[in-house]
Amino acid sequence: MDNERSVAAHYAHGALEEAILGGLQAAGKDLAHLVPADLSPVDEFHMGGRQATEDVAAQLDLKPGMRLIDIGCGLGGASRYFAETHGCQVSGVDLTEEYVATARALAALVGLQGKVSYEQASALALPFDDAAFDGGYMFHVGMNIADKPALFAEIRRVLKPGAVFAVYDVMAEPGEGEVAYPVAWASSPATSFLADAAGYRRALENAGFAVDATRSRRAFALEFFKAMRARMAANGPPPLGLHIVMGADAGVKSANMAANLERGVIAPTEIFARAV
Ligand SMILES: C[S@@+](CC[C@H](N)C(=O)[O-])C[C@H]1O[C@@H](n2cnc3c(N)ncnc32)[C@H](O)[C@@H]1O
Repeated sequence: MDNERSVAAHYAHGALEEAILGGLQAAGKDLAHLVPADLSPVDEFHMGGRQATEDVAAQLDLKPGMRLIDIGCGLGGASRYFAETHGCQVSGVDLTEEYVATARALAALVGLQGKVSYEQASALALPFDDAAFDGGYMFHVGMNIADKPALFAEIRRVLKPGAVFAVYDVMAEPGEGEVAYPVAWASSPATSFLADAAGYRRALENAGFAVDATRSRRAFALEFFKAMRARMAANGPPPLGLHIVMGADAGVKSANMAANLERGVIAPTEIFARAV
């Protein structure tokens, strides 16, 4: 199996939309009157969830009507946030067919289908014209892509000069020991391609971006896992959460991610860049 097929197989669930709808109902939500924030416990598949998305958005100069690309959009939670809260028009692409289908279904459920769209495609071969977007972002995706120079060259191709691009990825850090697997993005090191922030910056700059800022979110992510553990200890698993997306070994994946963070071998990191 080539890497992209292995990555898509890692994320595929089999009955994700049904599981999410079941979780929403178990959480007491009325499926006929949902708002995008109702989905955020399950559709923001990155450390810190909705808060992390808001924190990135606050550092971007977003304007209504801006056309954004979401690289590796997953279930589309961030895209619906940018569309609903900032009035942007968002195109998401993702390798995992089931995520794309679920993203479309969730967008329709909250009435945002006219402001977001999703396509199954590789970030290394985007189905868009050159200079089609005013900006874009990529949350927790680069860990699955070995060739970061090719990734950022392809992203740069579809952005207009001056467009902003935000990366929020899990990056390698020089902590103690090795990264423990499985984690949310990979069952084993075979499909995990962690790079450090300097490697990301180099790949961005060589692809035609100017890097404006870099920020480690390690402390924020440690707090996120601590709060999650406290909620689990008090109430058990919530009806709606990322365990639905991560599957049967969600507990061990979360525990490994928290341990990797604590040992300082990974850190979710923001990088803000501009197409030059
Ligand atoms: C951890 S999830 C993050 C999803 C989403 N960005 C979010 O934050 O909720 C990683 C996503 O990257 C996608 N992905 C991985 N490699 C990709 C590639 N080469 N092209 C497009 N999507 C990819 C996966 O299918 C998966 O949906």
